[in-house]
Amino acid sequence: MTRNLSFQVRPGGRLNGRLRVPGDKSISHRAIMLGALAEGATAIQGFLEGEDSLATLRAFRNMGVEIEGPDRGRVTVHGAGLYGLRAPPGELDLGNSGTSMRLLCGLLAGQAFDSVLAGDASLSRRPMGRVTEPLRAMGAHIDTAEGGTAPLRIWGGRRLRGIDYELPVASAQVKSALLLAGLYAEGRTCITEPAPTRDHTERMLGGLGYPVQRRDATVCLEGGGRLGAAAIEVPADISSAAFFLAGASIVPGSELVLEHVGVNPTRTGAIDILRAMGADIRIDNTREVGGEPVADLRVRAAPLRGIRIPESLVPLAIDEFPALFAAAACAEGETVLTGAAELRVKESDRIQVMAEGLGALGVDARPTADGMVIRGGAIGAGRVHARGDHRIAMALAVAGLRASGAVTVEDCANVDTSFPGFVDLARSVGADIEGKPGHG
Ligand code: S3P
Repeated sequence: MTRNLSFQVRPGGRLNGRLRVPGDKSISHRAIMLGALAEGATAIQGFLEGEDSLATLRAFRNMGVEIEGPDRGRVTVHGAGLYGLRAPPGELDLGNSGTSMRLLCGLLAGQAFDSVLAGDASLSRRPMGRVTEPLRAMGAHIDTAEGGTAPLRIWGGRRLRGIDYELPVASAQVKSALLLAGLYAEGRTCITEPAPTRDHTERMLGGLGYPVQRRDATVCLEGGGRLGAAAIEVPADISSAAFFLAGASIVPGSELVLEHVGVNPTRTGAIDILRAMGADIRIDNTREVGGEPVADLRVRAAPLRGIRIPESLVPLAIDEFPALFAAAACAEGETVLTGAAELRVKESDRIQVMAEGLGALGVDARPTADGMVIRGGAIGAGRVHARGDHRIAMALAVAGLRASGAVTVEDCANVDTSFPGFVDLARSVGADIEGKPGHG
């Protein structure tokens, strides 16, 4: 990976054609994790070969799991069974990946061996108390750095007990960490969510034959079962598709078809928000692939108007707000987001960093404690900073498609964590964008 990479974007290139964005990051992580705990070989197709999911893959190799690939999205995981992981030779480096760290924390709390989870500077600042505290209530022994952050030292050989836990924040990562610990716990683990969050863990556990019960906002499982292996097809990532949904909506004359996109209803908030703003998005050919709904999305440029975003949609679009802010910058009137304080603890403080980036391009973007107010208008040329956050880099590049002149986005190397090949794919449908060695 080039550590210093900047994007140079020029306006005017309309987006036209068909494309398939890379595989879903959340599902790719879970396919490796659950495949590793299953009995037998799990053949994965459409695996995201991005830095984050590769960090998960390497972690399981380091715990003795035989994994073939990745080769053009194909990976075969030779599952070790629930009790077949081995102590890793050193600490597990999870790079920029919050999903790897939080889910593994739960999974490793139930092992017989000790482990240490470490990450890069951004991941080492992110809150981990949201997983370590309920895991401790289950009997886990986990040490953190001061402030509850990584590195995390997880002590093995602990007896875990099931828990009945009400999530204080709507977080699929916390829910999933507790479900994974629950596989190793005595008795029943039940988690109640304050609002629906992505349910890929529950779906995949069920698909691999592990009984999971859901009733209203509560999901439960019993420890001590077994996971069977199965083929897993990973759909294209709606979170990556979102940059093209926003981009094609705001660049006049655009029309794109995004193929084979995962449209799990716990992930489609961005489509609902863009449509409420006036976007022309059609969902075609919906089908079910390996327990996950998939569709082709057709998007045409359309005039957008500002809206007040319903708070109920926030967890269903949590990763898409950088792209949605770029769309709001081009909408007529004001877009108001509230109830999204979680954005401040993602790979960067996405409220602050997007407000600064759009502000530097002349957009009236006012950050609030739990959201943003954006008054749409002209986007100017200029130089902006992604602060190492992959989704900010791509969102500011999308804003550049509608700018009055060239936009340079600095610090874009981490786009490889979720969307390797972004620049080439965007160019292939008409965007005027280049990746260049940058100033970091
Ligand atoms: C994810 C859940 C979300 C999301 C992240 C991936 C997952 O985080 O932002 O990119 O795969 O479970 P939270 O659950 O912390 O909101």
